Amino acid sequence: INLTVSSSGGNASSPLMYGLMFEDINNAGDGGVYAELIKNRAFQSSPAFPATLIPWEGVGSTVISLNNASVPLSSALPVSLHVTGNSSTLGISNPGYWGIDVRPQTYTGSFYVLGDYHGFFTASLVSDISNKTLATTKIHSKSVSGAWAQHNYTLIPTAAASNSNNSLVITFNSLGLGAAGSLDFNLISLFPPTYNDRPNGMRPDLMKAMKNLNPSFLRIPGGNNLEGLNPPYRWVWNQTIGPLKDRPGYQGTWNYEQTNGLGVVEFLNWCVDLGVEPVWAIWSGLWLSKQVVSKADLAPYVQDAMNELEFIMGDTSTTYGALRASLGYPEPWILKYIEVGNEDNVNSGQSTYQSYRLSMFYDAIKAVYPDMIIMSSTSNVEYAASAEDYHQYTRPDQFATEFGFFDNYPVSHPTLVGEYATIQYNDGNLAHGANWTSPKAPLPFWIGSVAEAIFTLGIERNQDKIIGASYAPMMQNMNSFEWTPDMIQFAADTSLTTYSTSYHVIQLLSNTRTTTVLPVKSDTAFNSTDVGMAYWVTGSNAESYIAKFAIYNTTGGADVPFSISFPTTSTTASLTYLTADDPYASNAFGGANVVQTTTVDLTAGGNGTFVFSLPQWSVAVLKTS
Ligand code: AHR
Repeated sequence: INLTVSSSGGNASSPLMYGLMFEDINNAGDGGVYAELIKNRAFQSSPAFPATLIPWEGVGSTVISLNNASVPLSSALPVSLHVTGNSSTLGISNPGYWGIDVRPQTYTGSFYVLGDYHGFFTASLVSDISNKTLATTKIHSKSVSGAWAQHNYTLIPTAAASNSNNSLVITFNSLGLGAAGSLDFNLISLFPPTYNDRPNGMRPDLMKAMKNLNPSFLRIPGGNNLEGLNPPYRWVWNQTIGPLKDRPGYQGTWNYEQTNGLGVVEFLNWCVDLGVEPVWAIWSGLWLSKQVVSKADLAPYVQDAMNELEFIMGDTSTTYGALRASLGYPEPWILKYIEVGNEDNVNSGQSTYQSYRLSMFYDAIKAVYPDMIIMSSTSNVEYAASAEDYHQYTRPDQFATEFGFFDNYPVSHPTLVGEYATIQYNDGNLAHGANWTSPKAPLPFWIGSVAEAIFTLGIERNQDKIIGASYAPMMQNMNSFEWTPDMIQFAADTSLTTYSTSYHVIQLLSNTRTTTVLPVKSDTAFNSTDVGMAYWVTGSNAESYIAKFAIYNTTGGADVPFSISFPTTSTTASLTYLTADDPYASNAFGGANVVQTTTVDLTAGGNGTFVFSLPQWSVAVLKTS
């Protein structure tokens, strides 16, 4: 294949080409990137997920129960952990979200107590296997009858535990109890060091995994998790702000009660810390149960979304901007992209979205924020100059045919590919997309990741029409998940965090961004019969000319020979290509990386062309020096 890259005539690349999508699915938030170590720290509940003691246990013969104390910690957190018993040492223990990662670093904790107690509490990290104490501290009791008292503590293990089977244990001496003979505990919390040392912050290994992808946007807070299972439960922004004791939690969409510890402020700090543009989704009046807010009843929800946006963007003279300032954030954040809802075409949402829901939110937002890019959450609705969010979950063979999918999309109505992934193996028929009743692949696998690269290179060459793309879901907690495959796997033990085959492809493509997409002449068509499914896109940035390639099925499995010339006098270039021995190989959790990265230095021949071959099922980037 002989390629000649033009010096002009292309389009500007989108500054948001590769990004991230997050929602709390697969315990990716609670028990995941939200660094809180204590599971069920505040006994939050909803009809779908009633209050539970799990995974709390009493120490020794300590008796524990759930209690609606006459003095609740707060109206948001009315249920507490009642602790009593006959022995001298009483206490509670919590094994974390499937373990606690213990290393020689400072852990910061807090718990609230109701009841009369004179003496000390002892907080410790203890191995569940050996019962060895890994770190311990004494906390002077401030506990009194009839009022909640907060106790802060730090734990500093001197060595790493041999595994993550560890618990937080808090004990006290029953001889110091008042006449009631019991105490109530609530909001029992413990954090390891967080990314950028943010209080109530994020798990560093997972934030670094994201940072290494060089992302440009973060689409938050969902996904189906935004929508809610059924009325009146939905992701409510103002239940996610302020002190943790004022956050009631949320009947999450994905089979678990959510703490709302990750809220509006945490999401926006997350964007700041990664240096990415928020793509902020607001609730649009549709629940997953297919119930929809009627036109007559929608106005308060529109106003609620406007209050949310004022909280984020309003100056301190506004009601909600002042509320934000009172929480320690006088400077507003800036949103440029807002999505109205999520997948409003499913769950019978299309007709109401089209007839009034999208327009009511759109008009209200535009009136206050005229420059806002407002995305519809479905491809089948166009409203004024809004953009849209398109999702594609399919099989490798179908992705491999979608290089030209966006070629005829309108420039005037840009699209974000807010979710995409290869979710199933091929079934031998190119025309077959995903079948939602069949099992999904457990992990991303190599040809699926190559096929995704064909799809995203198709996006790269249409960056005048496409804003960018994000794989979804982003993270999978290996101890509890609802959805496979996912881009990053993790558990409590931070040393096990695993980057999938798709992660490696996105990392290569995202770290070799162009600023201009350049036209390229070719003597061979994409997917020609003599070569097979080979695709490419070319462009440049301030330092280099760049060509990217994705090679899927080739004719006879042969390598694909290329020669390429760039409009430059530079005679050296670096070629990096990713391959795997087995097209169906995946990166097993905690295992070796099956993706092989090869980098070779190339020198242009006398005619200024670079000559090389790429193997079947590979993704490659060639960059001039
Ligand atoms: O990414 C998982 C789910 O897929 C999202 O919540 C939803 O938007 C889509 O259907």
